[in-house]
Amino acid sequence: MSETVRIVEVGPRDGLQNEKTPISVADRIAFIERLIGAGLPIVEVGAFVSPKAVPQMVGSAEVLRGVSHLPGEFHVLVPNEKGYEASQTAGAKVIAVFASASEGFSRANINCTVAESIERFKPVLVRAKADGIKVRGYISCVLGCPFDGEVKPQAVVDVAKTLFDLGCYEISLGDTIGVGTPVKARELMRAVASHVPVQHLAMHFHDTYGQALANLYAGMEEGVRVIDSAAGGLGGCPYAPGATGNVATEDVIYMLEGMGIRTGVDMDKLLAATNEVSRLLGRPPVSRVASALNAKKKRVTS
Ligand code: HMG
Ligand code: MG
Repeated sequence: MSETVRIVEVGPRDGLQNEKTPISVADRIAFIERLIGAGLPIVEVGAFVSPKAVPQMVGSAEVLRGVSHLPGEFHVLVPNEKGYEASQTAGAKVIAVFASASEGFSRANINCTVAESIERFKPVLVRAKADGIKVRGYISCVLGCPFDGEVKPQAVVDVAKTLFDLGCYEISLGDTIGVGTPVKARELMRAVASHVPVQHLAMHFHDTYGQALANLYAGMEEGVRVIDSAAGGLGGCPYAPGATGNVATEDVIYMLEGMGIRTGVDMDKLLAATNEVSRLLGRPPVSRVASALNAKKKRVTS
């Protein structure tokens, strides 16, 4: 698998949206600057959602404006036309709409059915196309739902095909609660790839049960080459009970580099970004690679 993989760093959005400790706009901008400096060119920086639903993402407009001078592609979540308008006022060039493969999570997360969410996205996609804005499409709960339990691959296929046909350039498949295992992940990727070309698929796996790297590897064997990850393994969704962080960017980079896949990411700089945000949050990173490298540094310097 000696090809390139595109990493979408979601730490500043998914990573921080569920944190109890408020992180200021200035600190979020500094975090993004460090991530870009570490060689991660695509960063999801915020969300134009209800401030009551996710107060942690308040200030996303300032964050986006604050990083717009940096070289990089910055993504923001948009749930509806109101969010779209706010994203455009802030200068967003790439937005992400987010649906679910399961009804229970759709209701909890965005207060509507899956079909209603698609109806909300339609005018957003029409306006985005007219404005020359790229739209990514997330699908949550692709390998299980905290409310509905098992999720059939066909349910994921249906939403993926719909979002792709509506104009999303990429469909990011979210294992929101990190319950998937490699054979199921592989079967899912195969099922979706038979309806949406595999080069338009991304994997967004939370690591709740420690399966994310194995699931990514299985998906890569099916040809998927876009991986969402969060520095330090930050992350979780306030509306997905039990979900922990995203797969850690450090762990993904370590795996890819070990497979001979060049990522262009400077691990030392990435670790520095993770350590700084961990310091602000008041706890060490959950990333195994970050922990190992921090321990190694300590040994060398002591
Ligand atoms: P609602 O209550 O049904 O919406 O929420 P509404 O249209 O009835 O509006 C209610 C209030 O929200 C109104 O304000 C609106 O103005 C306001 P009020 O009159 O009460 O003061 N409002 C907004 N404010 C700011 N920006 C907006 C916006 N829209 C309405 N865009 C809504 C529906 C979708 C807005 C709400 O449920 C919401 O914001 N949900 C977001 C939840 C969220 O951000 N979840 C985390 C991200 S998804 C995720 O983490 C999964 C992912 O990582 C993939 C994976 O892991 O699976 C992507
Ligand atoms: Mg997520």
